[in-house]
Amino acid sequence: MCGLELPTDPNLIVGLKSADDAGVYLINDELALIQTVDFFTPIVDDPYYFGQIAAANALSDVYAMGGVPKTAMNLVAFPSKDMDLSILREILKGGIDKLREAGAVLVGGHSIEDKELKYGLSVTGFVHPKKVLVKKKIQAGDLLVLTKPIGTGIATTAIKAGLAPDTLKDEVTNSMAMLNRYAAEIMEGYPVNACTDITGFGLLGHLAEMVEGSNYSVELWAEDVPVFQGVLEMASMGLIPAGAYRNREFRAAMVDFLDVPLSYQDILFDPQTSGGLLIAINSAFAQQFLDSLKVAGISSASIIGEVFQDGSERIIVKTKREV
Ligand code: CO
Ligand code: CO
Repeated sequence: MCGLELPTDPNLIVGLKSADDAGVYLINDELALIQTVDFFTPIVDDPYYFGQIAAANALSDVYAMGGVPKTAMNLVAFPSKDMDLSILREILKGGIDKLREAGAVLVGGHSIEDKELKYGLSVTGFVHPKKVLVKKKIQAGDLLVLTKPIGTGIATTAIKAGLAPDTLKDEVTNSMAMLNRYAAEIMEGYPVNACTDITGFGLLGHLAEMVEGSNYSVELWAEDVPVFQGVLEMASMGLIPAGAYRNREFRAAMVDFLDVPLSYQDILFDPQTSGGLLIAINSAFAQQFLDSLKVAGISSASIIGEVFQDGSERIIVKTKREV
């Protein structure tokens, strides 16, 4: 990272070198510590929902590593001269409510004065050292399951511009505030090989992280990727956040689009906030896993692609799955 010499420690199971969702530090044969941190500027107008979304997003990296969140600390930058403190109270209430839902406890935090409001959390979780899920352990024949729809970047851009219907606003807000806990709990009962969560790099950016260094390639089926209702139309109207173009530029060299319309391509690179888990699972169990997710109310979950034997580490995007 940036040419820095990275510190090493024999107990550091997952560190900066592997660029995974969180760091993992071995305590003993039964226990490892997961540590992660995330904060950002408001993504929605409602401060209580912003707090919930920021917390769900920060907790997500612990779930993506196969762990359970235990403690958390607030990170707050607040313009107290320009903004009423009741707004901050609502944000923090949203965060605490999500932590409670996750079964984690707030143990402290730090706030500074800043012109621009920012909120997030550092989260610490537990995991059994043998159950750590990393990104790059995808296996040939695995199917890829995504647990939440994508398009939050395009949708929030449209919401800010006043171009989104209330139904979309509610749907996207609820999805971003939803914990990945429920999908993670179901995942524990299945032979999952690799997992990550979908955030700022977009679906293809995070999939690229799984593929890079794995010695496998992946085929993705655009029409099977769950997308929020109306977002495809917004993408064809050109309502694309700048981050989507940056994501494309960064990963374009790894991706081959076969007859995939441009609006779909833009959605696949759309930066997500508090997105779903992307899970690589042995194909023999994939349908049963998907059914379990749906029974638990994770209704948008979908099988979106497949890992195949090809050391060139490519992502092939097709419109449809060939059967
Ligand atoms: Co992550
Ligand atoms: Co993160």
